[in-house]
Amino acid sequence: MERNITNDIVTEYINGFYQPVSPELGTLRLEAEAEKVPIILKETESFLRVMLSIAAPRRILEIGCAVGYSAMFFSAVTGAQVVTIEKDHEMAAKASANIKRLGYEDKIRIVEGDGEEGVNALFEQGEEPFDMVFIDAAKSHYKRFLEASWKLCRQGTVVISDNVLFKARIASDIYDPTGKHKTNIKKMREYVDFITSDPRMETSIIACGDGVSVSKIKNI
Ligand SMILES: C[S@@+](CC[C@H](N)C(=O)[O-])C[C@H]1O[C@@H](n2cnc3c(N)ncnc32)[C@H](O)[C@@H]1O
Repeated sequence: MERNITNDIVTEYINGFYQPVSPELGTLRLEAEAEKVPIILKETESFLRVMLSIAAPRRILEIGCAVGYSAMFFSAVTGAQVVTIEKDHEMAAKASANIKRLGYEDKIRIVEGDGEEGVNALFEQGEEPFDMVFIDAAKSHYKRFLEASWKLCRQGTVVISDNVLFKARIASDIYDPTGKHKTNIKKMREYVDFITSDPRMETSIIACGDGVSVSKIKNI
């Protein structure tokens, strides 16, 4: 029960229907999983795939790129332009190589640096608002990532955040018996409180993968 916040049997059943968007992305998923790069889980991908087809975003901002898997998945499903921010130089270099190798260099731009600083730089450069924001980086920093991204959102922008239940630890301290994750838990709870209580957003927390929140911005 370490990996899933929900019943493992149900998750395995759901993942039995999983289909990669393309053979190349299927191979990249296997490579990333073998190297223990924390890309979106299969069940999260399946959920996002249908969300993307409903929301049909043309411009997506991602915070937390890793090896470029989710950025390419977003672009493959929607044809959207994606700007993705990654703090780790080695990860950003791997993502850049993967994006070139799979032919997405016209669709995806990598900004190397911290999520908040990257967003501020994009804003200062006159970047247009995004239709969707995907937050999937350092768990204790989600609130400042969203607050910074706010100026690059518009009414109707969909904000999706991954790992908001953090192996169920956000729901209950019993899942962190030693207190090792205390800070991340505290910060993520603050984030969940923020997105579920701020009247400018409509938010739902989905018990899928490691917990996914979907927020629609009602008033900017
Ligand atoms: C879970 S991985 C992203 C996975 C990716 N979204 C995918 O599904 O393919 C999180 C990434 O966020 C990056 N990261 C951590 N802190 C960050 C920060 N402050 N700003 C930007 N990226 C950060 C990490 O280096 C890591 O590569």
